[in-house]
Amino acid sequence: MAIQWFPGHMHLTRKAIAERIKDIDVVVELLDARLPGSSANPMLAQITKGKPALKVLNKQDLADPVRTAAWLDYFNAQSDVRALPLDASMSTPAKALVAACHALAPNRGGMAKPMRVLICGIPNVGKSTLINTLKGKRAAKTGDEAGVTKLEQRITIADDFYLYDTPGVLWPRIIVAKSGYNLAASGAVGRNAFDEEEVALELLDYVRQHYAEGLESRYKLTGVAGQTDEELLEAIGRKRGALQGGGKVNLTKAAEIVIHDFRSGSLGRLTLETPEEFAEWLRAGEKLDAERQIKKDAIEEARLIRLKKIPRPQKPREPAYVKGSQGDDLDDETSD
Ligand code: G4P
Repeated sequence: MAIQWFPGHMHLTRKAIAERIKDIDVVVELLDARLPGSSANPMLAQITKGKPALKVLNKQDLADPVRTAAWLDYFNAQSDVRALPLDASMSTPAKALVAACHALAPNRGGMAKPMRVLICGIPNVGKSTLINTLKGKRAAKTGDEAGVTKLEQRITIADDFYLYDTPGVLWPRIIVAKSGYNLAASGAVGRNAFDEEEVALELLDYVRQHYAEGLESRYKLTGVAGQTDEELLEAIGRKRGALQGGGKVNLTKAAEIVIHDFRSGSLGRLTLETPEEFAEWLRAGEKLDAERQIKKDAIEEARLIRLKKIPRPQKPREPAYVKGSQGDDLDDETSD
């Protein structure tokens, strides 16, 4: 099962960002440093096209520092993009943020041309926490309830530096199944939109292969890399006393423990994707999505033919290679 979640207000948010973007110099996108690819929003990239982008890898305190460095290199290699790591323990994050924005839009600054920055991020990525720190007081409530819409607000960081919070939530259509699981594990997806056991098994599958020692030390287990995900979840449940009648392991409870421990960093500092892995997942996801779209279009076409809204095609379409094998010029078929 792939995770799909739409927190609502998407259309309004999209419209509001599209209106605001004209007067914006730099778009700051907060990413979860444990899943920088999955927590990025491709829809945001479309709406803010052409604007310099600052990718903030937030919650770096929970992420694998080696992988954070790899993701920073990946983003910094892109034109008009800069990236920096951040976490809530930094009492003065403004300095690095302001410097990076000035580097991206060097023509802005001073009272006549103040820097105008839009800050965006998927739910639970730490946006309210960062904004509160930047403001220096608790102005917006923080919490783990994903998808809560907040009003747009302007935060004055310096006399010539304004930060605009995005109104509402902009959530991408998840076409990469692995991203859905990683987002659910991170706390970005509403609680009722996923099955804890499924998400925990996916999480364990990755973590036991890449960060076995974190699991072994947390749950006092050995040889986790060689276990199946199901065996591992059961062993964790048993170790942590998540039992039900007849001494059987309560797998839902065990899954909740695993997810909670991942979110709080109790499994160690870990990152669920590298730039290379994410690129591969994305390629596969896009291919699947395109195939799904072709099927959907064919079903819709058949429906319209049934309703006689469009004429039936004269003869069935043949793929190019069939025609080519019958003596047609293959180059001609594939060149358009
Ligand atoms: P949002 O506005 O993007 O939805 O996120 P928000 O700031 O509400 O933060 C979501 C959760 O992430 C909060 O935890 C917050 O404390 C935590 N958080 C934010 N930034 C960081 C960070 O850099 N590192 C770590 N480790 N955690 C961070 P919570 O448990 O849901 O709420 P609370 O009990 O802390 O208030």
